[in-house]
Amino acid sequence: MVHALPPPGEALDRLAGRLGAPLDSSLLSDRRGTRTWKIRGSRGAVALKANSPEQETVRAKAAEMAQEDDHLLRLTAAGALRPGYRIDAGSWDGGRWLAVRWVDGVPLWRALALARGPEGDRPSVRPWLRGIARTWATRLAAMHAAGWAHADVQPTNTLVTRDGRAEVIDYALACGPDPGGRLPYRGALTHTTAPEIAAAVLATSADTHIQAEPSADVWSLGASLFWCWTSHRPVPYDDRLGRPEKLAVIARGGTLPPADVRPWRFPGFEDTISACLAPDPADRPTAKELIAAW
Ligand SMILES: Nc1ncnc2c1ncn2[C@@H]1O[C@H](COP(=O)(O)OP(=O)(O)O)[C@@H](O)[C@H]1O
Ligand SMILES: [Mg+2]
Repeated sequence: MVHALPPPGEALDRLAGRLGAPLDSSLLSDRRGTRTWKIRGSRGAVALKANSPEQETVRAKAAEMAQEDDHLLRLTAAGALRPGYRIDAGSWDGGRWLAVRWVDGVPLWRALALARGPEGDRPSVRPWLRGIARTWATRLAAMHAAGWAHADVQPTNTLVTRDGRAEVIDYALACGPDPGGRLPYRGALTHTTAPEIAAAVLATSADTHIQAEPSADVWSLGASLFWCWTSHRPVPYDDRLGRPEKLAVIARGGTLPPADVRPWRFPGFEDTISACLAPDPADRPTAKELIAAW
């Protein structure tokens, strides 16, 4: 099969033994200087990420890829990430690549399609939604217990398996102990940015690292569930605003009341989402408390 954007040959050579040649590859995403492919062989599949070589961002993105590998190694060593998630990593003539275990799931937005509509108000959907929220909180709680924040909790970085479990991916921006030497963290997706991170981004220069705390992940978790269940982002702002202006609105701490936009009433679930969105990080539940609440 001929590909306009083939994966790095160096990575395929390394993966062939493990996955079983011949390998089949398909491009999954190509955005912000990073490409991801699904690579399949007779013995299994991986997600392969590599920086895009022909863009001006190449140096920063290769460094981000190396940083994600470092994060995976450290998180695994700390017991915060299931062993076997990181498969392999290396260099190629265009930069860096990283392979992780294939997660058979769909992004949160797609997983919540039924729940988002009025017909989602049925007995089988409630435990399904709670299960997604609970397993997601469980993943984050393991990171938080080891002193890490994921720092990019958002709908596309969460895949929901067929049996209703949330799996967290994309550890490139994670904030852990000993942040020395890392690329400065400057927030992630605007819509899921916690107010204290938004305020810090606006108050500091572009080369200043902002250390995201676990409580920021909890806000982002609540924001992602709010968004994908109600189809409204929790902080309403004009889409034509630039990122700094949106961050300024977020930093004020106001969010839409779920009761105004939810597709149907779900006591317990929606109150817990509201608790995650508390403007003061100290007022939010911890991920561990969320496991029990959901
Ligand atoms: N382990 C994985 N299993 C399945 N799909 C994955 C996996 N990792 C990444 N993907 C897919 O590739 C996309 C991009 O990967 P991600 O790690 O989020 O990189 P980035 O957001 O930096 O482009 C994801 O949104 C998802 O669709
Ligand atoms: Mg991502």
